[in-house]
Amino acid sequence: MPNYNTKLKKRSLTKIAINKFLKQLSTPQTNAIVIDAETFLSSSALVSGGVDPRNIVVINNNDSIIKNAHKKGHTKSIVGISTTVFMEFLPTSPLYDIIYLDFCGIPDTRGDGWCPQYDILWCATFLKKGGTMVVTFSKRISNCAEKIEKMIPYHLLTEVKHRDYCETSPMIFYILTNDDDTNHVNHLRHKFNHIYTTYTEELKAATTLSLLNKKITSDKNNSNSNSSISLKRSFTSTIKNKLNKFEKIKNILEKKNGAVPLSDIYKETDISKASVRQVLQKYSHNSKYYGTKYPNIFTNISKGYWQLTSQVKSRKPIYTVIV
Ligand SMILES: C[S@@+](CC[C@H](N)C(=O)[O-])C[C@H]1O[C@@H](n2cnc3c(N)ncnc32)[C@H](O)[C@@H]1O
Repeated sequence: MPNYNTKLKKRSLTKIAINKFLKQLSTPQTNAIVIDAETFLSSSALVSGGVDPRNIVVINNNDSIIKNAHKKGHTKSIVGISTTVFMEFLPTSPLYDIIYLDFCGIPDTRGDGWCPQYDILWCATFLKKGGTMVVTFSKRISNCAEKIEKMIPYHLLTEVKHRDYCETSPMIFYILTNDDDTNHVNHLRHKFNHIYTTYTEELKAATTLSLLNKKITSDKNNSNSNSSISLKRSFTSTIKNKLNKFEKIKNILEKKNGAVPLSDIYKETDISKASVRQVLQKYSHNSKYYGTKYPNIFTNISKGYWQLTSQVKSRKPIYTVIV
C-alpha cells in the first residue's frame, strides 16, 4: 500500500520529487553539494540513497544549520552565502556528481554577495561528467526564465527539464547535466517524470481516502455509513492494484533474468492479460502507442517475449536468449 502520510501533503510536492530523484541518482561513491535547510531533507535523501555523509557538502548562510550538518557527519559543510563559499572555500577535487542549488531568491545579484550566475558557472565547471545539477529560483519577477536562461552556460550544460511550480510561492526549477548524449538526457527526464507522476497519484489517492474517511465518520452519526465504507474498500483495492501492477511485472522479469513469454507473466500474476500488456507497453520505448513518454523499463524482444531493458543492454545478443 502507498504511504498515505497526510503530513506529506502539506509539503511541496516538487521539492519532495526532486529529493527523491536525487536519492535515486545516489551511489556510495557520490560526491555532492546541496543548499539545505534545517530539516536536512536533501542531504538525508542522499544519505538514504547510499551516499557517505562525509561526501555531502551542505551550504547554508545560517551558522546553527551548518553546525548541525557537521553533527550529522557532513563535515565538509560550510556556512556562508553560496557565492563566497564557492569562491573561497570549496575544494574543486574530486569533482561533484550531484549539485542541488535550492535557492529561494530571484535570479539577480544581491547586495549580500550572492551572484547566482557565478554559482551556476562554478558548479558547471566542477560537475563530474554525466553529473546532475538542479537549480531553483523564486519567480517573483516576470522575466525570470529569460534571466535564468541567460545565466546557464549551455556550452557546458544541457537542460533536462525545467518547470514552473507554485506550491508555497511561485518558483521555477531546472534540471541540468553536462553529458549531452540524448539517451542520458532522456533517461534523466524519464526518471524525474516517473517519480513526479507516481508521487502525485499517491497524493491524490491519499486526499480521496481522507475525504472518504471524513464522510464515513459523518455518516456514522446518521447511522448511514455502509455505502461509504464499501466505496472506500473498493477504491483502496483498485488503487493498491493499480500502483502495484508495474512492480509485480517488473519483479517477475527481474526474477526470470531473461526474455520471458507473455504466457508466463499471465500465469504468475493476478493482473488481467490486457493490463499486463498495457503496463509493458507503457514503459517500453518500442511501443507505438506510448512512444518515449514513460521510462524505458521493458523491451519487447520478439513477438510475445519481454525482458527488462537494463538486462537487455548487459546481455549477449537477444536472439541467443530466445532460441
Ligand atoms: C529552499 S531551502 C532548502 C530546502 C531543501 N533543499 C529541501 O529540499 O528541503 C534553502 C535554505 O538555504 C538558505 N539559502 C538560500 N539561498 C542561499 C544561498 N545562496 N547561500 C546560502 N544559503 C542559502 C536559505 O536560507 C534556506 O535555509
